Amino acid sequence: MKILLIGSGGREHTLAWKIAKNPRVKKLYVAPGNPGTARIAQNINIKATNIEALLEFAIDSKIDLTVVGPEQPLAEGIVDLFESQGMRIFGPNKQAARLESSKVFSKNLMQKYNIPTAAYRTFTDYTKARQYLVNQTYPLVLKANGLAAGKGVVIANNLHEAVEALESIMQNRVFGNAGSEIVIEEFLAGEEVSLLAFTDGETVLPMVTAQDHKQAYDKDLGPNTGGMGAYSPALILDGEKYNTAVEEILVNTVKALKKEGITYKGILYAGLMVTAEGVKVIEFNSRFGDPEAQVIVPRLKTDLVDIMLACLDNDLKSINLEWHKQTAVCVILASGGYPLQYQKGYEITGLKAIPKDIILFHAGTKQEGHKIVTAGGRVLGVTALAENKEQAIAQAYNAVELIRFQDMHYRTDIGQRK
Ligand code: AMP
Ligand code: GLY
Repeated sequence: MKILLIGSGGREHTLAWKIAKNPRVKKLYVAPGNPGTARIAQNINIKATNIEALLEFAIDSKIDLTVVGPEQPLAEGIVDLFESQGMRIFGPNKQAARLESSKVFSKNLMQKYNIPTAAYRTFTDYTKARQYLVNQTYPLVLKANGLAAGKGVVIANNLHEAVEALESIMQNRVFGNAGSEIVIEEFLAGEEVSLLAFTDGETVLPMVTAQDHKQAYDKDLGPNTGGMGAYSPALILDGEKYNTAVEEILVNTVKALKKEGITYKGILYAGLMVTAEGVKVIEFNSRFGDPEAQVIVPRLKTDLVDIMLACLDNDLKSINLEWHKQTAVCVILASGGYPLQYQKGYEITGLKAIPKDIILFHAGTKQEGHKIVTAGGRVLGVTALAENKEQAIAQAYNAVELIRFQDMHYRTDIGQRK
């Protein structure tokens, strides 16, 4: 089998690492990949958003299965394009991917089918939205409708902050067209957890839980990032709560989409808030989480390629998902200054000293001759698996201590929330 994986981050290195374990995979390409994927696959210099060029490459190279890592190509309809040419590709089509690419679409779907989420209103008109803000209680959450690389959400603590956010989203269009429509929603207090599933549009196979750490600094301080670390399982969503969330949220969402004439195939990712009134949806994503993948996928015993093929064959019911019991912890090493301004091009040292039982996932790195240098905000992910969370944390941080680059920044409290 020849497989093409699309993307270049830590999530994609994780997926490549798992895909490469399947003995039937004779050739794995990653577009564009990173120095981590280059060791286990062949990187192809095509951007994840250049979907026409990706199709051409897949046809020319006789790719048997394409796997999409990030959300942008899904939102742009890469699945529809590949399928129109008879190519097999894992991920939701453009209509289904709207669950992530349009917050208005996903909120309206949840409301219509009683899927628990924050109360909300949507606006296309700035003046009406501005008026609505006046009599609300704060904090209040404002969200640009479209994809904004995780940055289109503002939690406003008072009217002044809300108006500022509204202006920058709807009038100044700081997130571009994503700001032509806005969701204004109730602030949910509680703890966040990520619940993902594989689905073929009929069967829903939930994964083990994970918790991301979004803020840049310890104790959840500082600006929101793409994710500074994660661990799995997240016991905040356990037992009955987990079962209820799977049924009420994942299964009902796939059913709701079906009733709307949309078959959702791929990864369904629910970002959840565990509140005093129960578990509610903050957002849906149409792909694996980053860095959730770096702790969920290493725990997966079942072959990932078999799961993806079963999804495409509408035969997910034949798969029995099996998981390693261990706890996984992933610490992200970031460039100093991330998520704001940061420098690139610093040499990374110590990588060869990492113990064999640690899984090192590359993200923003670049090969320069014999050196690996920094090339992005999130540079590396260090994943450890152990019998309990304390051991996994200790092992991950022991490995982190060995790695060096100028202005390296990481959180020291990954996995310590609950
Ligand atoms: P999103 O892009 O929708 O995941 O939002 C980014 C982050 O904003 C989430 O991970 C939450 O931390 C926070 N957030 C979003 N919506 C809400 C809400 N209704 N109440 C509280 N926090 C929220
Ligand atoms: N870790 C958050 C995300 O992948 O969206």
